[in-house]
Amino acid sequence: MHAPILDLDFIDNRTPEQAAACDTKVTVDSNTGRQRKLYIESYGCQMNFSDSEIVSSIMFEAGFDTTSEVTDADLVLLNTCSIREKAEQTVRHRLTQLQHLKKKKPGMVVGVLGCMAERLKKNLLEEEKMVDLVVGPDAYRDLPSLINEVDSGQKAVNVLLSREETYADINPIRLNSNGVSAFVSIMRGCDNMCSFCVVPFTRGRERSRDAHSIVREARELVNQGYKEVTLLGQNVDSYKWQSEDGTERVNFAQLLESVALISPDLRVRFSTSHPKDITDEVLYTMKKYDNICKYIHLPAQSGNSRVLDLMNRTYDRTWYLERVDAIRRILGQECGISTDMIAGFCSETEEEHQDTLSLIDYVQYDYAYMFFYSERPGTLAARKLADDVPLETKKRRLQEIIDKQRHYSLIRNQMDLGKVHRVLVENFSKRSDDMLSGRNDQNKVVIFPKMHFKKGDYVNVLVHDCSVGTLFGEPVL
Ligand code: SAH
Ligand code: SF4
Ligand code: F3S
Repeated sequence: MHAPILDLDFIDNRTPEQAAACDTKVTVDSNTGRQRKLYIESYGCQMNFSDSEIVSSIMFEAGFDTTSEVTDADLVLLNTCSIREKAEQTVRHRLTQLQHLKKKKPGMVVGVLGCMAERLKKNLLEEEKMVDLVVGPDAYRDLPSLINEVDSGQKAVNVLLSREETYADINPIRLNSNGVSAFVSIMRGCDNMCSFCVVPFTRGRERSRDAHSIVREARELVNQGYKEVTLLGQNVDSYKWQSEDGTERVNFAQLLESVALISPDLRVRFSTSHPKDITDEVLYTMKKYDNICKYIHLPAQSGNSRVLDLMNRTYDRTWYLERVDAIRRILGQECGISTDMIAGFCSETEEEHQDTLSLIDYVQYDYAYMFFYSERPGTLAARKLADDVPLETKKRRLQEIIDKQRHYSLIRNQMDLGKVHRVLVENFSKRSDDMLSGRNDQNKVVIFPKMHFKKGDYVNVLVHDCSVGTLFGEPVL
C-alpha cells in the first residue's frame, strides 16, 4: 500500500494537492439523529482509511452517527499505523492530547484500532492507561459488544487475527471520499514476510475477498455516481479467490477485468503491485480496457540484489528491471510507474546505495515514496540483522534518492506538456476556487480553470505547464 502519512521520517516532496489526498483523515458528519456520535481519525495507508469506513458502518448500525468534531464525540477512535517508529509516535502524541479532552469530558470513550493494537495493547491499556478500548484489524465486528463492556466500566480488548475475515458483506460508509473516487478492499493481510515490515504481524495472513462481493460493491458505487474505484491490497497481484464448490476461480487479472466491465465511465485503479507477482496477464488486461488507469505502483525498496535478498523481497534487480521492461513493452512509455524506496537498510554499503540511485536512473519513475529504514520490533530484520547504518548516513542517502527522484518527476511531467489529458475532476484546487483539481490516467494531479466544469466530470485538458508534482493546463472545448 502506498501513501503512508504523517510520518516525520518521510521527507515530503509532494504538492499540496498530493499531500491533502493522503493526510490524516477524519470522519464527516452523518447527522441522522442517532443517539451517540463517533469520531474516527485514520493514520497510515489507504487500507486503514478503507477500514475506517467499515468501522463507521458497523458503528452506524450500533447507533452511532459520525461527526467531524472531536469535541462533539461520545466515542473517539484512532485507526493507527505501525509501519515506522515515527508513525507510532504521532499516535501516542495524539493520545496524550485526547487525555486532556477526556478530563473535560469524562464520558468520552477513547479507542485504538488498527495496526498498533496488537503490538501495544498491554502498554496502552495497563501501563499508560491512555485508552478504554483496543481493537485489532480483524475484530471490528466485535466493536459494538466491546463498547458495551466499556459502558459497564471495564476496559475492552480484541486483537485476534483471523484467517477468514474480509468484511465482504459490510457496506462501507464513505468517509474519505469526495463522492467521485472510492477505495474497495479486495484482500487483507500479507504473507510475504519482507524482513523490514510489521504488516504481516499487525494484519495477519493474506486472504482474498469474494469476487462477487467486490464487483457488487463497485457496481453500487457506480449507481451512486462514483467515477473511480481503487482496488486495495498489500499485494493485489496475489489475489486468488475460489467459490466454495471450487467451480469458480478468479485471479487478479480476471477480477480487474470484471470491475472494468461494469461501466466504461468507471475508472479503475489498484494498489499495491508486488514485483514478484505482477503478471503479463495483468498488463495485457490493463492494455485491453481504456478505463483501467495506466499507472502502476511497483515498490522496488532497493536497487541492489544483496540488499533485496536481505529484505526478503524474493526478487533481484534483474527481475525487477525485467518487470519494468514488460510494462514499457506492453503498455508503452506513457504508463505511470511509482515506487517505494528504503534508504539505509541493515548493512547497506555506499555502492549498494548507488545501485538504488542507478535503478531510479533506469526506470525514471513518475513518483516515489521514500523513507529511511526504521527498525520495527519483532520483524525478521530486528531479530536477525543489525540496524548498523548511522542515522546521518540514512538521512543523507534518503536525500540523494529524493533529489534524484525530483529530477525524474519533473522530466516525466515535462513529457506531458503539449498533450491533451483526460482528467477526472475531484475537487477545487487548494489554492483557488476558480481552479479545479483532478488526476489524469497516470495518477498525476492536473490543475485547470473551473469554467463550467464540476466534480465528477471528465475533462480533456491541454497541459501547458508543470512543476515537480503537478500539471497545469486549459480545458479543450
Ligand atoms: N505492501 C507494500 C508495502 C506496504 S508498506 C509493498 O510490498 O510494496 C509501505 C512502504 O513503507 C513500503 O513499501 C516500504 O517502502 C515502507 N516501509 C515498510 N516498513 C518500513 C520500515 N521498517 N522502515 C522504513 N520504511 C518501511
Ligand atoms: Fe510488508 Fe512486504 Fe507485505 Fe508489503 S509485501 S506489506 S512490504 S511484508
Ligand atoms: Fe497500513 Fe501502517 Fe498498517 S501502512 S497496513 S496502517 S502498519
